[in-house]
Amino acid sequence: EKGGWPSFMAKEISEDPEAIENTIRGRFHEGRVTLPDLDALGEGYFREIDRIIIVACGTAYYSGQTAAYMLEKWSRIPVQVELAHEFRYRDPVVDERCLIVSLSQSGETMDTLMAVRFARERGAKTLSICNTQGATIPRESDAVVYTHAGPEVAVASTKAFVAQIAAIYLLALHAAQARQTLTDAEVAHILAEFETIPDKVREVLQHHDRIRELANWMADTRSVLYLGRNTGFPIALEGALKLKEIAYIHAEGFAAGELKHGPIALIEPGQPVFVLVPSPRYDDTLHPKIVSNIQEIRARGARVLAVAEVSDAAVLPIADEVFTVPPTDPAFEPLLHVVPLQIFALELSTAKGLDVDQPRNLAKSVTVE
Ligand code: BG6
Repeated sequence: EKGGWPSFMAKEISEDPEAIENTIRGRFHEGRVTLPDLDALGEGYFREIDRIIIVACGTAYYSGQTAAYMLEKWSRIPVQVELAHEFRYRDPVVDERCLIVSLSQSGETMDTLMAVRFARERGAKTLSICNTQGATIPRESDAVVYTHAGPEVAVASTKAFVAQIAAIYLLALHAAQARQTLTDAEVAHILAEFETIPDKVREVLQHHDRIRELANWMADTRSVLYLGRNTGFPIALEGALKLKEIAYIHAEGFAAGELKHGPIALIEPGQPVFVLVPSPRYDDTLHPKIVSNIQEIRARGARVLAVAEVSDAAVLPIADEVFTVPPTDPAFEPLLHVVPLQIFALELSTAKGLDVDQPRNLAKSVTVE
């Protein structure tokens, strides 16, 4: 069943490209998104709402945080992302002009289900993005867009994470078409790039052997930090979560801009820090800021492990290791950047001799509150 891989998680990471491919397949034609799954929300629905709230737990929460950047940017609908178990206990403003999008691989997470029920009681419509046909959350929602990542067995979620981001991007483009917040040409351009992403993820997977060597060498590491800006911030959080879940290593993700406001105090000689570097080609503001963050932590002895675009000449000389990703539109960078972090957690857990698929104290789906 593991198809020759030593663990389900290893197999599932190798399926990241297909998870994206199968989630977008058949859902756009001739430069336009077609998602009949959303018809159930009603004609003209996306022109009527004034807010989207994404609710989720764990890895699904980070995919929501990541995809929210483009959902808001493309649709011009304000988006907030909430932990499902915090959301319903704080008397949030929720009404019929608000769409609740739940993200859940299993569709059975009780905290997320309770948030969906709560929102429906308040009169909001609910959309489930789910990887499991006929699960409880999609059954109780007004509409559902399934991710087609295939069954995910390992407790730590990987291919479902990238599929969730892909599904929200389709939702974002659908809403942008309905609200005319992107031109036809812009949508067509984004979709053309979207189609190339599975192959670009395949390229990033080629780093597996080198990441294994790094992880073997780092088997005694006590702490790893992750830095990113913009969509790289939630990717940093997700990278840290993966390491905690399966390698039992203290790990934290930070917004790189926050470094000087506190976390830089943690940097001491030898501290490994993953840095997610946005492409220098599109952005003349974020990239130099990340480069100076790298210089700041390096000056304090950090061991810099960078994920950067293949032609990024500024990063090569200042990082200890660089895992390159092919050029893409910044919207799609998170789908490439998360892959080395997934592999790193897998290989560090393996190097420590741990059970990668069944980490202690965790369950694949938590059906209690
Ligand atoms: C946790 C799992 O309990 O639930 C995580 O251990 C998962 O791996 C989280 O991300 C949310 O699960 P789901 O099925 O709602 O996406």
